Amino acid sequence: MSNLAQARVGLIFGTDTGNTEDVGEKICDELATMGISVDMTNITDIDESYFERHDFIIMGIPTWDFGGIQEDWEDQYGMLNSLDLSGKTVALYGLGDQLGYGDYFLDAMGWLHEIMQKVNANMIGYWPTVGYDFEASLGCSPDKSHFFGLAIDEDQQFEQTDARVSHWVKQISEEYGADQAA
Ligand SMILES: Cc1cc2nc3c(=O)[nH]c(=O)nc-3n(C[C@H](O)[C@H](O)[C@H](O)COP(=O)(O)O)c2cc1C
Repeated sequence: MSNLAQARVGLIFGTDTGNTEDVGEKICDELATMGISVDMTNITDIDESYFERHDFIIMGIPTWDFGGIQEDWEDQYGMLNSLDLSGKTVALYGLGDQLGYGDYFLDAMGWLHEIMQKVNANMIGYWPTVGYDFEASLGCSPDKSHFFGLAIDEDQQFEQTDARVSHWVKQISEEYGADQAA
């Protein structure tokens, strides 16, 4: 397996009001321009076998209610924790509102990142915090230098979403290829 075009790629999202699904579709469209097809599925329809069928899995999660986990993701906590993703690669994207919820921006992405690290997933797709304005986030490194995945804010910075998705998809494609070659 040398690059993303040869990988079995999945994208799992959870959503309350549709934004995380919309961004997931943009990610799939961007990957399609690179000849990569993606199996995009709602977290409500996932079981352990999904992870066996994919080499690279993109996961999208919004934060709700002052740092809360989107409920469909939270419902799958037990299943996610029981996985062994050794040999699998995972990249995260998170949705939040940096102005309305600046003390909890993208916290749920931090929750998912912690689980993915615990189940031995190889993480790629970290994203710089430059260009965002927030007080605190569990979705970024302690030094606030990078988020644990692509950060999307449809409430305050929707006009930047397409460019961010395009840039990030190129980034994960390169990181995946570099990892497989190593
Ligand atoms: C009541 C409410 C609570 C929210 N809480 C947070 C929060 O704690 N942190 C955050 O980053 N965004 C928060 N948001 C913003 C949502 O995450 C954002 O609107 C996101 O795009 C929703 O994604 P979805 O449509 O996929 O559910 C909140 C939004 C609402 C309306």
